Amino acid sequence: MFEGTDPLPTDPILGLSIAMKADPRPGKIDLGVGVYKDANGTTPIMAAVRSAERHVFEAQTTKAYTPMAGFPGFVDEIKTMLFGEEIAERTDGIQAPGGCGALRIGGELLASRGAKRIVVGSPTWANHIPLLSSAGLTVETIPYYDSQSRTIDFDAFIGEVKKLGPADTLLLHGACHNPTGADLSIEQWKVVADIAAERGFLPFIDTAYHGFAGGLDVDSEPVRIMAGAVDELLVSYSCSKNFGLYRERTGGLFVTTRQPALAKALATHMMSIARGNYSMPPAYGGAIVTTIMQSPELRTAWRDELEAMRLDVVGKRALLAKTAERHGVGNSLGFIPSQNGMFSLVPVSKAQATALREDHGIYMTLAGRVNICGFSADNVDKFCEAYKAVL
Ligand code: LMR
Repeated sequence: MFEGTDPLPTDPILGLSIAMKADPRPGKIDLGVGVYKDANGTTPIMAAVRSAERHVFEAQTTKAYTPMAGFPGFVDEIKTMLFGEEIAERTDGIQAPGGCGALRIGGELLASRGAKRIVVGSPTWANHIPLLSSAGLTVETIPYYDSQSRTIDFDAFIGEVKKLGPADTLLLHGACHNPTGADLSIEQWKVVADIAAERGFLPFIDTAYHGFAGGLDVDSEPVRIMAGAVDELLVSYSCSKNFGLYRERTGGLFVTTRQPALAKALATHMMSIARGNYSMPPAYGGAIVTTIMQSPELRTAWRDELEAMRLDVVGKRALLAKTAERHGVGNSLGFIPSQNGMFSLVPVSKAQATALREDHGIYMTLAGRVNICGFSADNVDKFCEAYKAVL
């Protein structure tokens, strides 16, 4: 059966961590996988999560299966926070194994309803295309980001969006676009929402960085605008970044419809697809999130910690731009503070990204995507020197 199988290349993003760890050079800089890092370069467990974990440990009495929709209370808590109470009433969904699991179930749900293709702005997160293709969809790209101006080419994007029809799904990034950091403005979201309502295509918003662009409330706006405009909306959600629960694989998939009964019906289809894959999501992350959300004290502590992380990333963006200016490369990195979240694309060719890795121990994707969280007061000068050297 398996004789002659060749190994596959490593994952373009997750493989960076493996390569970085194997690099014995001191002073290497990890700008690869999108995880938050504090001033010491570590990805901490949030204090609210630690407290919730203690509570979960003490309170749990069994390891028997959780319901197929996930840990009780998880779906209600996340949907109310993200959509607001009113829209949450006509929204339902399931807890999923991370944002990836949510996207996959969403993709399979679309395929099960006869959808053939999903359209996504280019560039997009490297895993979107394989993930949604493996759900049985054809993924087609349309222009989104202009790598010359380092901004969204909204005219080109919207020109293609206007061509979509009721058989189509458009995948959108909720906040903190991965890999570009270039988010639609609220006005632009309204334009896309109006066109979606008019043309009848299904928007599918991937929300993996809720709270990291303008804060939890500001970042909920696009989802609410869209839910207010269209008859049907899919949203995938990740708790990896905003709760720091990466390895606990905690996320959710939500659907908003005009009638609550339809959303409920669709949630049963999500559960059935999950049953055919992994039965139910891991309970632990869902228990932590639900515990935090249902405790006013932990919820406030979590929001404060998340806000501090957000501001830290904003500060790192400013630090990079300022340091780049000091090193005479400010022109090519001046756009960094205008973008959101963990990622931006620095203007490098594949050869330059490879040289940064091989000659300087600086790890980013070959497309030049950097995890802004990887910068610190200790390494940003070294980065700018190396960047200048490879230009
Ligand atoms: C990233 O884009 O670096 C993260 O979302 C991690 C991943 O799974 O790729």
